[in-house]
Amino acid sequence: MKTIENTFALLSKAIYGVSTKMTTDEFKVRTRNVFHEIHKGQIENSTQMKRKAAEVDFLKIGFSDNFFNDKVYLEAGCGSLAPMGQSLLKLGAKKVYCIDLDESIFEIAPKLLAPYQGRYELQVGDVLDLPFDDDMFDFVGCAGVLHSTGNTFEGVKQLARVTKPGGAIYLSMLGQGGLMEEFMNSVRNRYINDPEFRNLIDNLDSKKLLDGFCWLKEKMESNDDKSGDLVSESLFAELFDQDLVLTIKDRIQAPVYDYTRYDDLIELLASLGFTNFQRVRGEYFEFPNIRRYLAPLYSDFEHPFSQILGGDGMLKVIAVKKAE
Ligand SMILES: C[S@@+](CC[C@H](N)C(=O)[O-])C[C@H]1O[C@@H](n2cnc3c(N)ncnc32)[C@H](O)[C@@H]1O
Repeated sequence: MKTIENTFALLSKAIYGVSTKMTTDEFKVRTRNVFHEIHKGQIENSTQMKRKAAEVDFLKIGFSDNFFNDKVYLEAGCGSLAPMGQSLLKLGAKKVYCIDLDESIFEIAPKLLAPYQGRYELQVGDVLDLPFDDDMFDFVGCAGVLHSTGNTFEGVKQLARVTKPGGAIYLSMLGQGGLMEEFMNSVRNRYINDPEFRNLIDNLDSKKLLDGFCWLKEKMESNDDKSGDLVSESLFAELFDQDLVLTIKDRIQAPVYDYTRYDDLIELLASLGFTNFQRVRGEYFEFPNIRRYLAPLYSDFEHPFSQILGGDGMLKVIAVKKAE
């Protein structure tokens, strides 16, 4: 059975050569390190940043622009860039609390939040043990975080606890099922168990991908196979760009990536007093790279083809906590 202890044991075997003793603290440090490096890469990458901003564009998600004034918000797992905090503050939030696992969040986020001085609190905190009173926030957002905590449902319970009756919650996490989940699990196992593969992923960049493609083409040509020319080097560079490399690292390097069934999430939220469930369909992004061929599956997650590949898809859910 896959438990958080098993995951720790596998990770510690990979990192320290012994199969026990990765403590919860070490797990948190490792998780944050991985994402901090990825977020530093994202800020240099305009297409990643454009998508990140669109994912927390609450007017497009369906909120009215007078929803935000004078309210208190939580962005749980704000990462190094606090994108949701920035979006909420821009929309008129009275105060936003942004938390994540360690001090690395103080490197970049304060610069990005600087226009909103006095209206935000950036602090270290764990979504599995939130340092806030019950019923404190009008709106609680947690995007792309819970699947990396090792205990998605405890995170949901904590987030529900701090949401005010009548307030709203916005969660996004990976949905269960589909061939991609099986594929990602096997690649992630390989990353944990094979130092050479781990080294390759840790040092991957778009130039290395292009070098690999050029080598293949050369080999094909030396064997009189000209079909390598069907894909030009510039087209390959466009399809396998640095944006894609950051996505690959996100999916493979994060110590834990759990999958949740949509129905289980809704059932849990209902048991915690939530209602008015709305599944956000997500904007149709034009990806700059090969993911453009997957984009229709992301937004049309009910299609049988999407379900075979992606199962429940990316879960993005808004719900309201019943007023007492
Ligand atoms: C994919 S990043 C998303 C960051 C941010 N929400 C965004 O959209 O840019 C996941 C973040 O979750 C954070 N995280 C993972 N486990 C956490 C926990 N138990 N408590 C708080 N944050 C956590 C990681 O440190 C990382 O910054």
